[in-house]
Amino acid sequence: MARKSRHSFSLSLSPARFSSLLLFLLLSIPRASAGGHDYGDALRKSILFFEGQRSGRLPPDQRLRWRRDSALHDGASAGVDLTGGYYDAGDNIKFGFPMAFTTTLLSWSVIDFGRNMGGELNNAVKAVKWGTDYLLKATKDVPNALYVQVGDAYSDHNCWERPEDMDTLRTVYKIDRFHPGSDVAGETAAALAAASIVFRYRDPPYSRLLLDRAIKVFDFADRHRGAYSSSLRSAVCPFYCDVNGYQDELLWGAAWLHKASRRREYREYIVRNEVVLRAGDTINEFGWDNKHAGINVLISKEVLMGKANDLVAFKRNADGFICSVLPGISNPQIQYSPGGLLFKAGSCNMQHVTSLSFLLLAYSNYLSHANHAVPCGGSYATPALLKRLAKRQVDYILGDNPLSMSYMVGYGARYPQRIHHRASSLPSVAAHPAHISCKAGSRYYLSPNPNPNLLVGAVVGGPNSSDAFPDSRPFFQESEPTTYVNAPLVGLLAYFWAHP
Ligand SMILES: *[C@@H]1O[C@H](CO)[C@@H](O)[C@H](O)[C@H]1NC(C)=O
Repeated sequence: MARKSRHSFSLSLSPARFSSLLLFLLLSIPRASAGGHDYGDALRKSILFFEGQRSGRLPPDQRLRWRRDSALHDGASAGVDLTGGYYDAGDNIKFGFPMAFTTTLLSWSVIDFGRNMGGELNNAVKAVKWGTDYLLKATKDVPNALYVQVGDAYSDHNCWERPEDMDTLRTVYKIDRFHPGSDVAGETAAALAAASIVFRYRDPPYSRLLLDRAIKVFDFADRHRGAYSSSLRSAVCPFYCDVNGYQDELLWGAAWLHKASRRREYREYIVRNEVVLRAGDTINEFGWDNKHAGINVLISKEVLMGKANDLVAFKRNADGFICSVLPGISNPQIQYSPGGLLFKAGSCNMQHVTSLSFLLLAYSNYLSHANHAVPCGGSYATPALLKRLAKRQVDYILGDNPLSMSYMVGYGARYPQRIHHRASSLPSVAAHPAHISCKAGSRYYLSPNPNPNLLVGAVVGGPNSSDAFPDSRPFFQESEPTTYVNAPLVGLLAYFWAHP
């Protein structure tokens, strides 16, 4: 893929007449690459990735064949079945908080863009179900207990081991009335509610089960308020510590429950708690920790459909979010690399790229249907502009960048070879049936060789803010994939496949 010129500003335009920043932006965002990208191929791969992250007993239709069953006794130490679910990234822990967020975003991808997924829709729905089957097990005992993590992160991170060989501590962590966790419980309620929409017509009994459970879990989250990062500090921090607080997950859970159940009480909850739970805070954050931009975009759909004048504050916040991410507007929280990649502080930059781009695209669709544009500093950001911004980020990931490489494993001619991922970097069980112990894996970690197992579809943390990428396992910020990078990307790729 040829390197793109970032500024193709046409000099034939009179600068005085066309001084509007937004018009400038429209002109300076490159058009689709000459050959275009194979978004359908990228979509298929982005979903396949989730099969590589599966924990538990793998089903007969598992397509990523170099993985095997793993962690078949998870939960046993606590007398519960907690097998299944997803490993979050390149390690072998099951962290409930990002797993729930991943499931919520995969569901949102299917809800808004499932119609664009063609033959991949079934695979996307299976990826959602692999998450919800686990979340149903983890929430079975609510309100007495909600299981939020399996595996001791220190013990796991001390080893470089295949999940199939894992002999590290599989400690089970839970929250309950006396050790609350409204953050992880609120996100879990959001995931179950969002997924209930995915299954509404596909599998009505399963959908009802998900919604009933979401209602119970939300009630538990709201009634016993507190942060799991306080209740379980030494286990979950600094890994998936909720730095931002639990208030956003309560609003987020209520927003999804409202969408899924159409019950008045959730609408009233949102209106009543908008200020208390600080919907207008940090409006340009969206990730496993902070849901604010997502809450505002999701609820704005109702406002744009003219059904919710009591919720207009959310639309104002969503508009503020949009204006803050436009390139060229100086914003201390959002920057762009010289090659055009969105940048935010914190590890794994690509999570911000995909989640914020997803919101740009989702909001753009909601605006289009209502024939609206976003007022930003005396001008308007149109739905078309938002789509082009989102597409520019997706195209960067797929190869339109200064290194001309794709950041998705297995897509394009050049992609990351040494991702920070235990299963991918160690020989497969088929290639090396004998156990590889904790420290025996170190030589694979330190090896300069490419990973032997292709984790197809994995999107890594990505380049640094100068567009440089080391392609080296120890640089985990750059080279580690995560499930919550891919979950929103699934929706983006589906849309651009249908609308290249
Ligand atoms: C990015 O990585 C390159 C190559 O390692 C390095 O020269 C550059 O300083 C890094 N940029 C930043 C902003 O860290």
